[in-house]
Amino acid sequence: MSNNIIVAIDGYSSCGKSTLAKALAKKLHFIYVDSGAMYRAVALYFLRNNVDLNNHEQIAEALEKIHLNFHSRDYQTHITLNDEEVSDEIRLMPVSETVSAVSAIREVRKEMVKQQQRMGKSKNIVMDGRDIGTAVFPDAPLKIFMTADPKVRAERRYKEMLPKNPDITLEEVFENIAHRDYQDTTRTESPLVRAEDAIILDNTNLTPEQQLDFALEKVHDLGNY
Ligand code: DC
Repeated sequence: MSNNIIVAIDGYSSCGKSTLAKALAKKLHFIYVDSGAMYRAVALYFLRNNVDLNNHEQIAEALEKIHLNFHSRDYQTHITLNDEEVSDEIRLMPVSETVSAVSAIREVRKEMVKQQQRMGKSKNIVMDGRDIGTAVFPDAPLKIFMTADPKVRAERRYKEMLPKNPDITLEEVFENIAHRDYQDTTRTESPLVRAEDAIILDNTNLTPEQQLDFALEKVHDLGNY
């Protein structure tokens, strides 16, 4: 049995999971893993290679050819797809539009969960995603389930995306978030659901500092930190 600590952060799209996870990891000197970036990189590979999402043979073949790596600099996610840095490209609209469908595929999830569990074997980590507290690390000592008003989430995401997507509209971002919420919560494979032992954090009216304080208090409650 290893003694490393895992903080699992799940929740809806664009409700500040990665902001909290990064800040928490920085404060605690833990490693931060953005599991969504992994699904996004797979979606990018599928897009570039015209992988048919209904063709299981093609999907299995593609998954064998995909090698992902994280390089953390200043707690920012740098992800490589077969040695190419794709951190910016995976945030663009084409990937955002297809990633939920890609992440609903059983084979894709199986492979990503395997890789994520490997990362959590011996190190203290904060991982954010949709199934971290339910499927990836069901024994994590601290699970946080994040939520916020969808309109507030869309406004936050819009501001974040605008510099790299100058043509985007708030409506488009809202639609994309609503669509992803629907897909994430209704898919058959590991749908987004709160783990029974997860603490709910609604940050509609919280600043990033306030949500960090909330999470730090929960970490301190674990003892040793
Ligand atoms: O957190 P994000 O928006 O970057 O995630 C991108 C997509 O990947 C999102 O639509 C849901 C999916 N995802 C998932 O199914 N499981 C995870 N652990 C992380 C993300």
